[in-house]
Amino acid sequence: MKATAKAHTNIALIKYWGKRNEELILPTNNSLSLTLDGFYTTTTVDFQEDLKADSFELNGIPEQGEAYKRVTAFLELVRKMAGKEVYAHVASDNQVPTAAGFASSASGFAALAAAASKAIGLDLDDKELSRLTRRGSGSSSRSIYGGFAEWQMGEKKDGSDSYAVPIADENHWDIRMAGVVLTSEMKKISSRAGMRRTVETSPFYEGWLKSIPEDLTGIKEAIQEKNFIQVGEIAEANCLKMHATSLGAKPPFTYWLDSTIRVMRQVQKMREQGIPAYFTIDAGPNVKVLYLPEHEAEVERMLREVPGVTDVILSKPGPGVSYL
Ligand code: ADP
Ligand code: DP6
Ligand code: CO
Repeated sequence: MKATAKAHTNIALIKYWGKRNEELILPTNNSLSLTLDGFYTTTTVDFQEDLKADSFELNGIPEQGEAYKRVTAFLELVRKMAGKEVYAHVASDNQVPTAAGFASSASGFAALAAAASKAIGLDLDDKELSRLTRRGSGSSSRSIYGGFAEWQMGEKKDGSDSYAVPIADENHWDIRMAGVVLTSEMKKISSRAGMRRTVETSPFYEGWLKSIPEDLTGIKEAIQEKNFIQVGEIAEANCLKMHATSLGAKPPFTYWLDSTIRVMRQVQKMREQGIPAYFTIDAGPNVKVLYLPEHEAEVERMLREVPGVTDVILSKPGPGVSYL
């Protein structure tokens, strides 16, 4: 009863930022992302009859706190689904900074869901796997697929119609994304806590939600047509709207550092110089930059020039979840 799975992170171009049901992890809007080949998680789940509890090791270090709780709560769902009362050793390796806004929860839970469901003998298809992994971390529902994926919020109370669907696979379009590392420090406000506070207290939240349908229609059209400028403009504006909602929260907060803003300005400077490039930022200070392959060298050079940038990791579109 042992399996290993690999899942890549995904970065949302249309963000998921708020839940309508916390326990089932049902979102308030559809979101759309690009899975990246440069960042991923590999997880081994080993169910053993003689274990009295689950254990969780992340990057070789035994975890006990909140991270452990999230993993055991998730394994509990898998056990219920399979109708088996058996505990597991979980060992995971993040080739992505943990809890720094590079979507470690997306690759982390997608790899866990795939490995755990396989190890316990469930034979899930992609849709079932996406629906299951959503319960670990919402964004992980999109990491089941390579390339572009959309998480459909669904309408049903039980969440049975809330899962991701593929929009265009990793071979559709060679669009690139640079992960600009400013800090690998773990964020003080998790994505979960940040979006909860925003939904509950920000007067800007309603405006954010109203603006989503138009962004989604526009970006899906642009992806099909490989219209880079349209994808970039919509994604960058959508990210800024999301981050604006947190400034309206009570108490207000932002994930940005001064270096975050410097990178944003550098991307604007690229455009002024005729290099089409656009940024997006998740719940964390680090920035991701969208560009096309022909501008890779120049984009990387200009990003490395910005004071505060410690690394630039270049990615192509990545594949969906796989078993090792
Ligand atoms: P991020 O921007 O990295 O997704 P989040 O606040 O959404 O940040 O989630 C970070 C949390 O996700 C971690 O604190 C941990 O609980 C969980 N996580 C990260 N990596 C893994 C992994 N490989 N396996 C299981 N859980 C993970
Ligand atoms: C800003 O999926 O990490 O990255 O469902 O509570 O685990 P939980 O949150 P998470 O939220 C991601 C928020 C985001 C935008 C996105 O990935 O769509
Ligand atoms: Co996350």
